[in-house]
Amino acid sequence: MVLEQRIAVDLVGIDVNLDAAALATEARPYWSRIRYFHGNVFAYRPEKPIHLVISSLLTHQMSDVDVVRFLQWMEKHAEIGWFVNDLSRSQFSYNFIRVFSKLAWLHPLCRRMRRSRFSGRLCRKNGNG
Ligand SMILES: C[S@@+](CC[C@H](N)C(=O)[O-])C[C@H]1O[C@@H](n2cnc3c(N)ncnc32)[C@H](O)[C@@H]1O
Repeated sequence: MVLEQRIAVDLVGIDVNLDAAALATEARPYWSRIRYFHGNVFAYRPEKPIHLVISSLLTHQMSDVDVVRFLQWMEKHAEIGWFVNDLSRSQFSYNFIRVFSKLAWLHPLCRRMRRSRFSGRLCRKNGNG
């Protein structure tokens, strides 16, 4: 049996890329209350205590030193816990994802996405379209 608990949550997203917060805000569904901020996670000063930190596809972009720093940052700020969702950092994975993401654009679905308002804007910014 699934119990549904209506727990009020305050969700915040942070990205150091200037466009990421704007694009994420634009792409979120109308019912979403997530607030996105532009900034470096290490400089982020939460308005109130953070219960959970969920990091998505971030650590593979960091140096080893910054990964350790980031884990320490989460340990310090997350009252309940943290979760890192990421890719393997091996050389194979690094090259695989580069080639795969280029080939993916050849798929008809991706080509259609590329022409869409949101992706079109993203591609142009990245010089892909
Ligand atoms: C692979 S993307 C993942 C984006 C998004 N989190 C997702 O799961 O789709 C990695 C993101 O991490 C951001 N990033 C890298 N270092 C950061 C830092 N120190 N603080 C905040 N964001 C950072 C990059 O700008 C980039 O947008």
